[in-house]
Amino acid sequence: IELAGRTPWPGEPDDLPADPAAMRAVLAGRGGSVAEIERRVRTVLAQREIGRTIDEVRAAGGDPAYRSLDVRDPDAVRHLVKELRGRIDGVVFAAGVLDDKLMADKDERSFRTVFETKADGARTLLAALAEAGAEPGFVTFFGSIAAVLGNRGQTDYAAANDALEPLAASWPGRAVTVHWGPWAPAADHSGMVSPELAREYERREIGLLDADEGVAALLRELAYGTDRAVLYTASLW
Ligand SMILES: NC(=O)c1ccc[n+]([C@@H]2O[C@H](COP(=O)([O-])OP(=O)(O)OC[C@H]3O[C@@H](n4cnc5c(N)ncnc54)[C@H](OP(=O)(O)O)[C@@H]3O)[C@@H](O)[C@H]2O)c1
Repeated sequence: IELAGRTPWPGEPDDLPADPAAMRAVLAGRGGSVAEIERRVRTVLAQREIGRTIDEVRAAGGDPAYRSLDVRDPDAVRHLVKELRGRIDGVVFAAGVLDDKLMADKDERSFRTVFETKADGARTLLAALAEAGAEPGFVTFFGSIAAVLGNRGQTDYAAANDALEPLAASWPGRAVTVHWGPWAPAADHSGMVSPELAREYERREIGLLDADEGVAALLRELAYGTDRAVLYTASLW
């Protein structure tokens, strides 16, 4: 299993507490701007998550590796695919970022960051796979319910997820875009649904996908599904 993301890994050893709030307090005591502290907290949490994932894959008998790269960099993506040894059985593309703002408040840079990470990243990955002559058994793009129903402040994110579908449809092999509704944050990975956002969804009576159910749904879809795009969600909005 080859994992990739922008976060550099392994990180330097640190003596920071596990809890993000406590981590912020320790870092604030050592000085630095709020932005620097937030960046450090994000990086340390991401590195710990990578470490845990690698341990889990190993414990399950796998042989994981992690590489740091930006999917918006075609050379880096091409290099990654070329470097992989042996057969590529499957590809899961789940890179994505949010920068929610009403359209009127969006600048081009913000739109590009959100849109290009998903849409250009997916296109770049398919081009690299084609160039390497790879024939994976499946390609999965992680899309969002925002592409299907829209969401306030997410025009760029909705457009990016929508753009995944024709890309998946252009791939000669099995490729499916799975548009997900919001997932419930797990203890060690809140992802795009922070505990605060989860509370807001609860207030609006929007159901959240259980992580185990989400994984099982994805595996069933890959094993038995034939559609090019599907929506899995605990509830609509
Ligand atoms: N959580 C949900 O409820 C939900 C709902 C619908 C769809 N999704 C989709 O599911 C996917 C995973 O979401 P998540 O909730 O797990 O959020 P997340 O924790 O923020 O995961 C996003 C991942 O994308 C990687 N990434 C972002 N920009 C990248 C770039 N330029 N190059 C390489 N990697 C990049 C991040 O790693 P680095 O930071 O290390 O780069 C991170 O691993 C996303 O595509 C999201 O749109 C999630």
